[in-house]
Amino acid sequence: MLYAIGDLHLSMKSGKEMDVFGGAWQGYVRKIERGFAHITDEDTVVLCGDTSWGLNLGEALPDFQFLETLPGRKLLLKGNHDYFWDTAAKQLAFFARHNLAKLSLLHNNARLIGGAAVCGTRGWFYEEERLAHSEKIFRRELGRLRASLEAGRKLTDGELLAFLHYPPIHSDYRCEEVAGILGEYGVKRCYYGHLHGRAHASAFEGEDGGVSYRLVAADYVDFTPVRVL
Ligand SMILES: [Fe+2]
Ligand SMILES: [Fe+2]
Repeated sequence: MLYAIGDLHLSMKSGKEMDVFGGAWQGYVRKIERGFAHITDEDTVVLCGDTSWGLNLGEALPDFQFLETLPGRKLLLKGNHDYFWDTAAKQLAFFARHNLAKLSLLHNNARLIGGAAVCGTRGWFYEEERLAHSEKIFRRELGRLRASLEAGRKLTDGELLAFLHYPPIHSDYRCEEVAGILGEYGVKRCYYGHLHGRAHASAFEGEDGGVSYRLVAADYVDFTPVRVL
């Protein structure tokens, strides 16, 4: 089976545990363990970004090792806080070197799972508009989304599933380009993360332009991966 969850925000080494935020985050690592209890090693869980606070792969290692203890294969995509993120080749080599056999990446690629293609990338959000070179980063993200969906289309004539970190639609914001690409490839379901706490109230869930959107940020789904297939 296929599941999705975003924003685990692990911090086993870098000392930015989320418990200090209180509320849902209190004891969140135990909640994640409990949330994964129904997953088996035959299942795959897409991690929709903001997986670790580690500033580099070395700092993120304890978080990866924790993920390795949880059942199921994990497909990581990049969130805005994943500062550890490096080239795909370096990350995969790092996983191999540390025997992190259950971890892999969703990055400019796609995976065939249960007849559907798992596609995705970080995506785009209006918060990014303030950053320098935003246009360049925006175009690059659109290219990555397209590359992933293109790779998915090559794998199957069946369903293309989209997993993003950023919500393409939120409150009165709609990223026309991202929503447009999802529509162009006939994506019917899009799972995303990034929104926490009070931002949950302005999340968009439901159908828009033939695509059904669902927020799977960990603190929104009680730290329990949401079943996709
Ligand atoms: Fe997050
Ligand atoms: Fe985020």
